Amino acid sequence: MNFQEAQQLLKEYVHKPEILMHCLEVSIIMRFLARELGEDEEKWAIAGLLHDIDYESCLKTEDCFRHPESSEISRFSSLEEHAKKGAGIIKQKYPKIEEDIIHAILAHNEEHTKTKRENKFDFALAASDNISGMIFAYGLMRKSLEGMEVKSLKKKMKEKSFASTVRRDLIYDINKGNIDLDKFLEIAIKAMQSIAREIGFGK
Ligand SMILES: [Fe+2]
Repeated sequence: MNFQEAQQLLKEYVHKPEILMHCLEVSIIMRFLARELGEDEEKWAIAGLLHDIDYESCLKTEDCFRHPESSEISRFSSLEEHAKKGAGIIKQKYPKIEEDIIHAILAHNEEHTKTKRENKFDFALAASDNISGMIFAYGLMRKSLEGMEVKSLKKKMKEKSFASTVRRDLIYDINKGNIDLDKFLEIAIKAMQSIAREIGFGK
């Protein structure tokens, strides 16, 4: 599977603009991160793009797009299938998909899939999934992504009531993948800035 094929597949299963935008954000963060770490850029970008491919079909109601692992969403029992269903969709179409992509996708919803996050790729995906929401919310607050600093983002993350559905623990867990938190935040900000227009921030 190449990135273009992943884009096609995503479009078949996801139609809500806010979910598509979220997938794009996580994908670009994963791409920038892989580039910085000397990992497989295309592979990391594909995992980011497809990690929520089943999200729309797992939702029971129209307006409950939140992170799958947040307490707010956990009452939606259909999300117990989240990521498992997605892995199934991808494997059905691309049986030769690399196993580590599937593993990272399953592990991003570890609480339900019971697939444990255990390597750099897994921790990067779960952290990127969450930092995207944090940077987006902070960007909305300050009306721009431009000039956003790691220091102020970290400060914002400490405010529990701000973007409360974002799992801070999964962001901090980036250390378990041997990736420095500050470096990760710096890369994530740059990645989001690079698609500022596509995600609704004018320049
Ligand atoms: Fe996600």
